Amino acid sequence: MKPHTSLIMAISLDGKISTRDGAGPRFTSEADGIRLRETRSHADAILVGAGTIIADDPTFTEHGKYKDLRLQRGLTANPIKVVVSGSGSVPETARMFQPNGAPALVFTTERIPPTRLASLEQVAEVHRVGETTVDFRRVVEILAEMYQVKRLLVEGGGQVNFDLFRAGLIDEVYLTLCPKIIGGRDVVTSVEGDGFDFLDIVDVELLNHRAVDSEIFLHYRVQRN
Ligand SMILES: NC(=O)c1ccc[n+]([C@@H]2O[C@H](COP(=O)([O-])OP(=O)(O)OC[C@H]3O[C@@H](n4cnc5c(N)ncnc54)[C@H](OP(=O)(O)O)[C@@H]3O)[C@@H](O)[C@H]2O)c1
Repeated sequence: MKPHTSLIMAISLDGKISTRDGAGPRFTSEADGIRLRETRSHADAILVGAGTIIADDPTFTEHGKYKDLRLQRGLTANPIKVVVSGSGSVPETARMFQPNGAPALVFTTERIPPTRLASLEQVAEVHRVGETTVDFRRVVEILAEMYQVKRLLVEGGGQVNFDLFRAGLIDEVYLTLCPKIIGGRDVVTSVEGDGFDFLDIVDVELLNHRAVDSEIFLHYRVQRN
């Protein structure tokens, strides 16, 4: 069965998820950081794109209270770490590949150069799922069948988010609307890719909203048409 798949993102008031100088999601508040950790503490696996690993180099290793919460919930201390990288551009030196007791997975394609494949196989379990682009339906099938993933948390970036929406795989969205204006035609937004035509727009239903100072925490369910 497909894992229940949540997307979590922090955006500026003008929809950006990074800054012109590539600072990533550092424009969010401490309250947003807590919400991210709390949301992660329910996830069997966390999935991101190679662009996010290259820009932000997250570890996905939990400590203290959030590690305890995971264990109380019957989960492993750390979530399975998943990166999508069709060309194998994700560096094997990324911090997500440092051992922390949880498997690190790379989903790639047949176009990955043999040298990149060999390097990534040293640090991760590599799955080739597609000729030129990663087939996200296969990704979630493999996560469910081989790794028993029931709850998957997607943490961007914009390209991966679009591909997952297009494949109809996102069930809910946690969005933090930050009181910032970033601007920039080329600064990445929360959903990139080719975009949707009018008839294919994804509809969402608001489940919950909460304001902390000037920041707004939103929770949506994705509607199935
Ligand atoms: N504000 C926030 O909450 C937040 C959260 C996460 C990230 N971010 C920001 O988002 C930015 C990164 O977003 P992004 O859109 O540039 O990159 P991304 O979505 O993180 O990664 C894009 C890369 O993922 C791989 N990929 C994605 N879909 C694929 C497919 N269907 N088939 C094969 N490969 C696929 C490709 O890797 P290859 O090039 O290896 O083929 C592609 O270049 C960063 O600036 C980061 O700081 C912000």
